[in-house]
Amino acid sequence: MHPISQPLTVFLIGVTGDLSKKKILKALFELYKQQILENNFTLIGIARKTFSQEEFRDFVRVTLNTDVGNADWQAFSQSLFYVSGDVSDQQTFKNINKFHNGRKTCGNHLWYVATLPSLYTEVVKNIRLEKLQDSSCGWTKLLLEKPFGTDLESSRQLNKELLQTFREDQIYRIDHFLAKETVQNLLAFRFANGLFETMWNAKHIDNIQITATETMGIGERAAFYDQTGATRDYFQNHVLQMLATTLMEEPEHLSAEAVRLKRRQLLSNLHITEKNGRLQAFFGQYESGTINDSPAAGYKQEANIPGSSITETAIAVECEVDSERWRGVPIYLRHGKRMRQAVSEITIVFKEPKNQMFSELGGTQPPNVLTLRIQPNEGIIFRFNVKKPGLKLDLQTVPMQFCYNSNQDSGLVEAYEKLLYDAISSDPMFFPEAVGIEESWKFVEPLLRLLKGPTFMPEPYTAGSWGPSSFDELLQKDKTWIEPNPDLCQIIYETT
Ligand SMILES: NC(=O)c1ccc[n+]([C@@H]2O[C@H](COP(=O)([O-])OP(=O)(O)OC[C@H]3O[C@@H](n4cnc5c(N)ncnc54)[C@H](OP(=O)(O)O)[C@@H]3O)[C@@H](O)[C@H]2O)c1
Repeated sequence: MHPISQPLTVFLIGVTGDLSKKKILKALFELYKQQILENNFTLIGIARKTFSQEEFRDFVRVTLNTDVGNADWQAFSQSLFYVSGDVSDQQTFKNINKFHNGRKTCGNHLWYVATLPSLYTEVVKNIRLEKLQDSSCGWTKLLLEKPFGTDLESSRQLNKELLQTFREDQIYRIDHFLAKETVQNLLAFRFANGLFETMWNAKHIDNIQITATETMGIGERAAFYDQTGATRDYFQNHVLQMLATTLMEEPEHLSAEAVRLKRRQLLSNLHITEKNGRLQAFFGQYESGTINDSPAAGYKQEANIPGSSITETAIAVECEVDSERWRGVPIYLRHGKRMRQAVSEITIVFKEPKNQMFSELGGTQPPNVLTLRIQPNEGIIFRFNVKKPGLKLDLQTVPMQFCYNSNQDSGLVEAYEKLLYDAISSDPMFFPEAVGIEESWKFVEPLLRLLKGPTFMPEPYTAGSWGPSSFDELLQKDKTWIEPNPDLCQIIYETT
């Protein structure tokens, strides 16, 4: 990453919120400490809470868990300012503009919208009314957190509204999974290694799986989650973006435009498998259980969740890609809350060799499996069969691993640092674009119709399991889910 030398003001709407505290403020401080953001950087935090400038700096310092005397903090704190106000009120933007102009800084402007999605339209409208969508002496961009709509229609409507204020090339929509190191590494791994790229097709691959599960429940997000559910909250965005990056065709060149094109073409060729007139999609809702030896309450026992809720907290889908490369390869996707492990990984199961001479030895000959671990403990793991050392000609399966965490100085960059850096540097490669997001909603639409069906009821599953039994039945007879292996790249369990 190169230092960003031009003057930059980040307007962070929702600076007191959960995401700002967990990720955004930390990422900005990291970039500052690494001298990527320089002294001509300004952060203007915006929320309704009342703070004096000193109180705001102290709020950020406590959030960053930093001592007053820390030299980096002392320098960084000079760049921090706060404007209080309701962003649905145009007056707030007049106040922001007045405050900013009073500081006489001229340069690039980044509007980072990390507040309630219901406010997005009002925010961009007020930016337009105050003519803040262009800076007279630099660029202006909009950085927007997911979700981008709740279905195809609302996502189109949101895009239409954003485009009344900003040009598409000014808008950066965040799906932070695309900025995760292993997801980016897919490009290098696939297209810089002849060995794997030539095998990346239906001739050599038996099935593809994505497991993206969490051990945590809904925390304090009951109102949001009960209206949203697993399909919209996680599956439509994170799971599909990982899938598109894994299966897309080779981009013509290493540019954002070419990579985004291939991702969205893949999504447009993706279909949910149908068997005997039934879509292969199953939904679950967690009941009480035990996770990592701690008791976990059921979904309906969570605070502020009605006992009659039929919101799905887990989803499993079989799908297929209608393309020469992938026709006939089943793709299995599963996501859920309060599941056995907190892990996200993409698993490629290769076909077994035609020659089965080792079956004469008895026992099984497991297929080659390639796992791209997205989190935690990122890495790439390839499992293959070798001769067991000894006098007999027996087989054993061994892993070959590239684990980021085994390297002290792995250079691993936190996703939010990467996203901020890329947005500031005008590189949209790892951001989904409007049409790409619409493609993912098109794929999800049949699932939303199932969820709205008059007889819809999610199947119960025990907290700490891998979901309801239908998730296992989803797989064709000769296939099983490849369980994430805690010993590979050493998964550290999350506490619940
Ligand atoms: N939290 C996560 O882990 C996470 C992960 C991925 C994406 N996201 C997305 O990030 C966005 C923010 O989520 P969050 O969890 O941080 O939400 P949150 O904790 O509810 O924070 C909302 C922020 O917006 C401010 N706000 C609310 N209404 C406002 C108004 N009318 N005018 C001005 N400020 C207002 C709040 O401060 P005041 O109440 O003081 O005004 C607060 O700073 C959402 O789009 C969410 O989907 C969140």
